[in-house]
Amino acid sequence: MSTRRETWTFPTPFDYIHTRCSLGSYSSYKTEIAQQAFRNLTPGTGWLEAQEITCDICCDDESLPRDGALVRWADEMRRASAALDRPLSGYHEGLRTWFEEVGFTDVRELVFKIPLGHWPKDRRLKELGARWRANFIEGLSAFSMAIFHRAFQRSAEETEVCFFFSSKPWLMSIKEMKPLAGGGWEVWEQSFGNFVC
Ligand SMILES: C[S@@+](CC[C@H](N)C(=O)[O-])C[C@H]1O[C@@H](n2cnc3c(N)ncnc32)[C@H](O)[C@@H]1O
Repeated sequence: MSTRRETWTFPTPFDYIHTRCSLGSYSSYKTEIAQQAFRNLTPGTGWLEAQEITCDICCDDESLPRDGALVRWADEMRRASAALDRPLSGYHEGLRTWFEEVGFTDVRELVFKIPLGHWPKDRRLKELGARWRANFIEGLSAFSMAIFHRAFQRSAEETEVCFFFSSKPWLMSIKEMKPLAGGGWEVWEQSFGNFVC
């Protein structure tokens, strides 16, 4: 398939189908993926697994400023992706329901939080947060450039300038937030659906 929007035409059913980090790829995960996967899995024993993240910045306490740069960036990404009909958010509310609505039974959901920054006390989370922060900073331009251009007609320079002004406060605020929870991506590895015909 050149695009996931196409109707699947596989001649034989699969035992297992999975998606990972596919946010922003579909207009509707439910109809383009979950529903088609349901129809293309072995009845009774086939599994669909979705390991997905969502572009929502969450915080366990009130320490992340809702008008801060990080939250504003995520809001803009959500607005832009919705305008382009490739939503980057909604997975955490939607996946389980979408699986069930298209017919999967035995739907299991595992939810993981990933800290953004090295503020956690827990060693494992600290390491994870530091890596995620590096990944985030390195990828920020690439995540944003095309989507802001297509949705808001922003030039590359305008997008970079926005990072230049916005990155410092948010990086500092994450650093200074320890040991409180700070910005974070909620990562959702979830929805194993085993269906029964
Ligand atoms: C964030 S990457 C994840 C790649 C892989 N699933 C992984 O976890 O390593 C998203 C991928 O989806 C692809 N993609 C986005 N929209 C698509 C579409 N409509 N049809 C097919 N592929 C698409 C992109 O080219 C990119 O390779």
